[in-house]
Amino acid sequence: MKKSYEDLRSARWFAPDDLRSMGHRSRAMQMGWTDEDWHGKPIIAVINTWSDLSPCHHHLRDRAEWVKRGILQAGGTPAELPVSDFAEQMLKPTSMLYRNLGAIEVEEALRSHPVDGAVLLGGCDKSTPALIMGAVSMGLPFIYVPAGAMLRGNYAGEKLGSGTDVWKYWDERRAGTIGKAEWDGVQGGIARSYGTCMTMGTASTMMSIADGWGLCLTGASSIPAPDAAHKRMAAASGRRIVDMVWDDLTPDKIMTEASTRNAVTVAMATGCSTNAIIHLIAMARRAGIPLGLDDLDVIGRTTPVIANIRPSGKDYLMEDFFYAGGLRALMVELGDKLDLSTLTVSGKTMGEEIAEAKNYQDDVIRPLANPVYHEGSLAVLRGNLAPDGAVIKPAAMDPRYQTHSGPAIVADSYAALKEIINDEDYPMTPDHVLVLRNAGPQGGPGMPEWGMIPMPKALLKQGHRDMLRLSDARMSGTSYGACILHVAPEAFIGGPLALIETGDVIEVDIPNRSLNVRLTDEELAQRRAGWVAPAPRYERGYGFMFSKHIEQADKGCDFDFLRTEFGAPVPEPEIN
Ligand code: FES
Repeated sequence: MKKSYEDLRSARWFAPDDLRSMGHRSRAMQMGWTDEDWHGKPIIAVINTWSDLSPCHHHLRDRAEWVKRGILQAGGTPAELPVSDFAEQMLKPTSMLYRNLGAIEVEEALRSHPVDGAVLLGGCDKSTPALIMGAVSMGLPFIYVPAGAMLRGNYAGEKLGSGTDVWKYWDERRAGTIGKAEWDGVQGGIARSYGTCMTMGTASTMMSIADGWGLCLTGASSIPAPDAAHKRMAAASGRRIVDMVWDDLTPDKIMTEASTRNAVTVAMATGCSTNAIIHLIAMARRAGIPLGLDDLDVIGRTTPVIANIRPSGKDYLMEDFFYAGGLRALMVELGDKLDLSTLTVSGKTMGEEIAEAKNYQDDVIRPLANPVYHEGSLAVLRGNLAPDGAVIKPAAMDPRYQTHSGPAIVADSYAALKEIINDEDYPMTPDHVLVLRNAGPQGGPGMPEWGMIPMPKALLKQGHRDMLRLSDARMSGTSYGACILHVAPEAFIGGPLALIETGDVIEVDIPNRSLNVRLTDEELAQRRAGWVAPAPRYERGYGFMFSKHIEQADKGCDFDFLRTEFGAPVPEPEIN
């Protein structure tokens, strides 16, 4: 049923003929607003993650104007609210430390202001989950506007992919096969426009996931940031949110178990970033859907990787993906692996949204019969080293490590790790397993992207480009290699990873999803008795609160008190 003006949330601020509402109206008039702006029309928050230090979101100040144009065209009133920029490359020690803080910021910005719906502008890695987690917890109708990927990189006529090629050329520089001039050429050519990383890294994965979930105009996630279609999409999103408010199309009607399975299936088919696992779990749980690691593994086992985009694919980048038909075409190829009856923000079903879509280049978006990788790009491993799970991306590693056992070389910190990987004469073979611990949610802190441990110089010198690496950290979605990540529970809180020693034999069996250390329960118990917990990372400030409330990777690294089932729902603010 359509809402009336009296039903609007913002009317509680502006409609009554009383002292407090007069204050709201007079202060709105102070900004140049009139009765026309608040009476009889929804007020739409435009949540913007633009900043001068966010290269991926550099165009969002402009795109907010296109969103506002759309809102005005449809008879709403836009109100832009800035939030954190979530700038992946700039925030230290890691933007992951701030994802939940950002989600709180979004939720409370929506709750505390006189707004009826929201348009969320973001795309750089943590911004998408933070925006969606916050908006879902608030529960107002919202539509997500993905920032879109930047143009393909270029150096000396070669296509460059964000992150992926930086790692590749860095290994070559450390191996001495390229010099400073080539390295500077890569630096100047790898990021040629605004927009997010243009590999299928965390940003592109998360934008695609939101799209598959039905949270943006279908296909919006594939539009490159500099394409004129991106502006048109932003304006169309502004027009659409106004109707979503009148129709009361709240997120619980879109984020169902079926649409969550679609989102996971899309993630797997894109060859998604390992980070997506943490964010998928966190976002689903905010929507009251108890998604777990094993659910992801089950869908992963039956979903081939069909997006031939680096780093899981070889030749192509997000710009190529768009020209091939983008996410709509990928969903057409997935066919009955998706539930096409799910609702999207447009008010139509996913099936209606992709009815006209076509795959224009079947080497970029492969048919199911000719995948890039035969099953999902992510595998969940368990065993005595990771009782609560660990993840690996088999599609982007040397297949020789699918089943492997080898002696551990253990580093307790990133500083200790650097000494090992920079020592050309460190005694090691490609059979060794390099372990970094104390880099998890509490230990990092914030679970930094240290999990793609750079290849040790000693092995690069021998001509090797991959080895098995193991940590409780995350890695960038643009990374690749035989890296086992997100080991839970983490070492810092006494997970089994804390107990292993250099020389212990690590056993990995990806087809059978196992990760063990060759030690008996008695040996592990003996070591545990002698384990001393490290000193807390923080004694005050936000980090202190973070350490007290952060959950482990298998639960999505949300704060415990933000979970849907934690206490009674937050009430609407009193207006008096
Ligand atoms: Fe922003 Fe990669 S740094 S998307």
